[in-house]
Amino acid sequence: MKILVTGGAGFIGSNFIRYMREVYPDLFITNLDKLTYAGNLDNLRDLEGDSHYRFVRGDICDLQIVNELMSARPDAVIHFAAETHVDRSIHEARSFVETNVLGTYCLLEAAREQRVERFVQISTDEVYGSLPPSGRFTEETPLSPNSPYSASKAAADLLVRSYVHTHRFPALITRCSNNYGAYQFPEKFLPLMINNARLGKKLPIYGDGENVRDWLFARDHCRAIDRVMRKGRVGEIYNIGGHNEWQNIEVARLVLKELGKPESLLQFVQDRPGHDRRYAIDAGKIGKELDWKAETKFEDGLRWTIRWYLEHEAWLDQVTSGDYRTYYERMYAKR
Ligand code: NAD
Ligand code: DAU
Repeated sequence: MKILVTGGAGFIGSNFIRYMREVYPDLFITNLDKLTYAGNLDNLRDLEGDSHYRFVRGDICDLQIVNELMSARPDAVIHFAAETHVDRSIHEARSFVETNVLGTYCLLEAAREQRVERFVQISTDEVYGSLPPSGRFTEETPLSPNSPYSASKAAADLLVRSYVHTHRFPALITRCSNNYGAYQFPEKFLPLMINNARLGKKLPIYGDGENVRDWLFARDHCRAIDRVMRKGRVGEIYNIGGHNEWQNIEVARLVLKELGKPESLLQFVQDRPGHDRRYAIDAGKIGKELDWKAETKFEDGLRWTIRWYLEHEAWLDQVTSGDYRTYYERMYAKR
């Protein structure tokens, strides 16, 4: 069996490739990634020289390269590649529209042309918008994206849906909650908190810090995607989440406690414009149909993750050098 993964040099994509190589020794994986600021070949350095793994640098908006890879007729395409950071989408949305919408279109067209038999669109719970203090997102919750990022992901989902409906294209969609684990770029909340805490820098908490996210260990997400790819029903949407809700301020405090750092490092800063208050996933459908559930307890996964970043300080220092600094200076100058 051979699969094409897009965006495999990023956070979840690299975890997924590593997971699949571990679990399926005979599987061949091609990874198409543009290597934006978020993509990093160091995330898969351990697979260098692996005869079952091939990296291709390229843009999913480039139909020539996409057609070429699809003509190898992969058994499945797992589409992770995206611009993913909400704050960036608030400052500059064009690359989100290009990659997340146009890029998904290019993949769909090429996959349809080559009669690819399975296409998994990796989407997000953010397409559903924000929740009040109670209730959970189900697959029937209406789409109500609030940021340019989530709007571009929702647009991609609708394109995928239209190809299923119009062309009988064999696609499935997954919508997962917030992931945490190794190799997450430290502009995202958890690795940012860990990195700042280890350096004794302030931890920026948006607004009142009471926004709620539903955290899932990346490896549990990878296991769910594998199930959906192999056993999911074509045309279906599967929500994925850990029933594990925490306020941001609670998570930041856990990080400080684990690192033995003082709470005086917490710094409340101006809120994110349009900040979604709460996400929570009802993962009942994937549980019932595909026998999946989150296995990693948050406290264990968090401790493991913190240790991972502390043991990979060189990785953190490398990805937070150069453009990263310029980005943060620009972000905070605007606040
Ligand atoms: P990430 O930002 O860490 O990685 C994205 C990867 O896509 C990078 O390697 C980047 O180089 C690549 N990429 C970007 N534009 C590209 C293009 N035009 N062509 C080819 N490659 C390109 O992202 P992530 O957090 O690993 O998220 C992966 C997917 O999962 C995304 O589709 C995201 O919407 C979805 N998702 C993420 C989370 C989360 O908590 N991180 C939760 C649910 C869903
Ligand atoms: O829910 C899935 C989504 O989770 C994915 O689709 C996105 O790609 C991913 O980035 C993530 O989106 P969030 O906006 O929830 O993640 P982020 O890490 O940016 O922020 C998590 C929470 O922490 C959110 O409420 C904003 C807050 N935050 C974030 C940063 C970067 C802070 O308080 N301070 C910060 O510095």
